[in-house]
Amino acid sequence: MLDKLERLPPDPILGLAAAAREDSHPNKVDLTVGVYKDEHGLCPVFEAVTKAQELLAQEEVTKAYMPPAGSEDFNAGMQRLLLGAGHPALAGGRVSSVQAPGGCGALRIGAELVYAANQGAKVWVSDPTWPVHIPLLGSVGLEFANYRYYDPATHGVNFDAMVEDLQQAAAGDVVLLHGCCHNPCGADLTLEQWGVIADMVEAQGFLPYVDIAYQGLGDGLDQDAAGLRLLAERVPEMIVAASCSKNMGLYRERTGATIFIAKTPESAEALVSQALVAARRVYSMPPSHGALIAGRILVDQELDALWRSELVAMCGRINDLRKAIRDKLEAATQRDFAFIENEKGMFSFLGLSAEQAIRLREEHSVYMLNSSRINIAGVNAKNIDHFASAVAAVL
Ligand SMILES: Cc1ncc(COP(=O)(O)O)c(C=O)c1O
Repeated sequence: MLDKLERLPPDPILGLAAAAREDSHPNKVDLTVGVYKDEHGLCPVFEAVTKAQELLAQEEVTKAYMPPAGSEDFNAGMQRLLLGAGHPALAGGRVSSVQAPGGCGALRIGAELVYAANQGAKVWVSDPTWPVHIPLLGSVGLEFANYRYYDPATHGVNFDAMVEDLQQAAAGDVVLLHGCCHNPCGADLTLEQWGVIADMVEAQGFLPYVDIAYQGLGDGLDQDAAGLRLLAERVPEMIVAASCSKNMGLYRERTGATIFIAKTPESAEALVSQALVAARRVYSMPPSHGALIAGRILVDQELDALWRSELVAMCGRINDLRKAIRDKLEAATQRDFAFIENEKGMFSFLGLSAEQAIRLREEHSVYMLNSSRINIAGVNAKNIDHFASAVAAVL
């Protein structure tokens, strides 16, 4: 029976990263996967994570299952981190959450609840969006519609087109929004534009679903959550899927949370009960390691301060790199790359054709997606000149 299943091609992004690893070119540049890299090309472990891990190892007395909703410290800490400690939804007891295996697990749990509430729900996704959104939410049974978002001509958000498309989103539909540091384009909504989306939720009744995987990598922890906080003040209900993969460097520990802002405290509790049943069907219990680390950091003042300072340094490096990449590309090509400095987070579309992206790989060992999405953090002092001259050569 199983021998009927054919071999599938590798995931396009992971396949490219594997090709980059095998490339023996001394100046190869890997800008594929969305993993933060430091100036040595390594994805570092946060010192706060190492310290929390040491404390937990000393204290650990069991490997019995976690509670189904996960660690209480983690859930409460994530609610404060995402919404801000004094948020009215928190004060009103309308917020609940469950720990999930990474941002992907969190997104999946949210999608399961959307499907349970409305099997005919249409999920509106930005064009473009992170490609994994489609199989991750679609395999639950949800349908999709696109709203226009990124304008390659301006390298920014085409907000008028976004609003025009979302005018068709009805009550019972879901609008998926990137909380900050849009993947793949790096172009984010302004706070004013988040306000317009809140007006549309009030008028049309669709459910906002915010995916936030890069909080703290754009402008800072509070600034990056400002849009979703505003939305959560204005709308009756919403879902947030948050990831600790990037901002705590806990990628392989699979650490995330699905947070519900519900109409009433009773509904907030009901949503957790639904999430637990949905999780039981898929993976049963959440993994412990990453969430215990994150929970520990979020409740311990010293570890929290250390983590925040490390994150500020990481964010600063990304923004410095954005400027350096802009300067180098402009000097090498005599073209305008100002947009790279204006975007947020780890990603940017360079605006190259697929042919140019392929030539960069084949002729210069510079690896990016065919869409010309680059991981900014893959650039460093050693490879930036090769990167800029290779881009100039294919333009
Ligand atoms: C937009 C977006 N959402 C969610 C995730 C989920 O991340 P993870 O499951 O690794 O925590 C990612 C990871 O790359 C992402 O880019």
